[in-house]
Amino acid sequence: MQGQTILVVDYGSQYTQLISRRVRENNSYCEVILPSKLNNFKDFNNVIGIILSGGPNSTVNDDSNDLPNSIFEADLPILGICFGMQLICKKFGGTVKGSSSREYGRAELEIIKENKIFENVNKFVEVWMSHGDSVTKISDDFDVIASTKTKSLSAVKMKNKEVYGIQFHPEVTHTLDNGKIIYNFVNKICNSKSEWTTKNIITQQISSIQDKVKEDNVILGLSGGVDSSVAAGILHKAIENQLTCIFIDNGLLRLNEKEQVMQSFKDFNNIKILYVDSSNLFLDRLKGVFDPEEKRKIIGKTFIDVFQSEAKRINNVKWLAQGTIYPDVIESAASSKNAHLIKSHHNVGGLPKEMNLKLVEPLRELFKDEVRKLGIELGIKKELINRHPFPGPGLAVRILGEVKKEYADLLREADNIFINMLHEKNMYEQISQAFTVFMPVKSVGVTGDGRSYGNVLSLRAVKTIDFMTAKPFNFPFDFLEEVSSRIINEVPGISRVCLDISSKPPATIEWE
Ligand code: XMP
Repeated sequence: MQGQTILVVDYGSQYTQLISRRVRENNSYCEVILPSKLNNFKDFNNVIGIILSGGPNSTVNDDSNDLPNSIFEADLPILGICFGMQLICKKFGGTVKGSSSREYGRAELEIIKENKIFENVNKFVEVWMSHGDSVTKISDDFDVIASTKTKSLSAVKMKNKEVYGIQFHPEVTHTLDNGKIIYNFVNKICNSKSEWTTKNIITQQISSIQDKVKEDNVILGLSGGVDSSVAAGILHKAIENQLTCIFIDNGLLRLNEKEQVMQSFKDFNNIKILYVDSSNLFLDRLKGVFDPEEKRKIIGKTFIDVFQSEAKRINNVKWLAQGTIYPDVIESAASSKNAHLIKSHHNVGGLPKEMNLKLVEPLRELFKDEVRKLGIELGIKKELINRHPFPGPGLAVRILGEVKKEYADLLREADNIFINMLHEKNMYEQISQAFTVFMPVKSVGVTGDGRSYGNVLSLRAVKTIDFMTAKPFNFPFDFLEEVSSRIINEVPGISRVCLDISSKPPATIEWE
């Protein structure tokens, strides 16, 4: 659907997604591809440039990642970052060596030859290095354009082509170029038309959905999370009442979740949201089940049962819409184990084949921040768009062991107090994910003149970029005291509040 494409070739760098996000921030569409696809770069739509990522491999004694001649013959702008630079230099007869003087961390770069990629970057600039191998010799096809004190070959340019190699990482914020290097590559070297804007994405996506779906009906599992909500929003704009959203209440949602979801779509005229209260069915099936994975499986299976039986009641359904987003696609392609595990639990991706529905995934090409911008532009309420992630199995993974309605009710109340207080104190947006966890253990307290004997609750709040690693949020103590006292006073049945200060790893963000 996009006009111009920049290809980001993933050699396994931890920063590949970051590179593509930086390109997108410059309003240019890019796609992450595996090195094996590079040979067929012409299959992609209107490629205007290629970025080769870094990676953990070595080019020393290993030619398996040799670059195809065709990308150089096509005269495309190419930027090799770290490992990518080593590949380019080696391709043209340069030498790469595993050196004893690794560069890791901050380094001062000196730009020694003016050129487009460093336009408006200071002559001396702090950059982020992370490499063991180094290019030690370049062929006559190249000029050195920047060096550090320890390495003379920190950036090179091919003499007669827009082919660049840089040893440091311009995509990370520790490189203090204010984003100019990627900006220059995208805008000044690839001459991007900057067409990848929220408005354009919406227009293009609407016509592509209409072309695909035609007169058929579409169903979508609405969870109240950002992705499925934005998917619903864009589909509704495209096909209006051909879309039916099925919102299943599993009894494990947050307080007032149904009302909030309905409220978020208030301005979407005639959007069909079928609210199905299946809480009794879910809670019945969870009776006596203690094991976290078994709880997840039961919830997943019950979700499918309910979804299937509801879908049967809608005529002429040919399509299932999903809120799959780009990181899911990249991670699945890279076979990231974690991504698979998490996805299989919450998306309706697990729906049985015999439903025979074709997939429509309008957010497949978008990063989370782009999805959020799209949601706001579509008119979905900000409160929903900026919500922290909530797991598919809901409160079931936050009630340790057996799930009971009375536990879920207590947890909902306590969680609501915690989250509201985070909003009141302007902390919510500084935190990536915050929630409370219910422990089925009892502890003694005094309330008024009496003895109480209630359950224990933990607060959990983390900061993270990618949810693969996370750090506990550093709360002011006064705030913690206030939350604790409000929860204990306002939620009878809770007698003690603790704080979870574990990092991930070794802990996970959720408790189960
Ligand atoms: P963990 O607990 O693995 O969580 O550190 C990482 C992120 O994934 C979410 N999560 C889930 N999401 N179904 C989901 O849809 C699940 O079963 C599930 N388990 C964890 C978690 O909330 C966090 O954002």
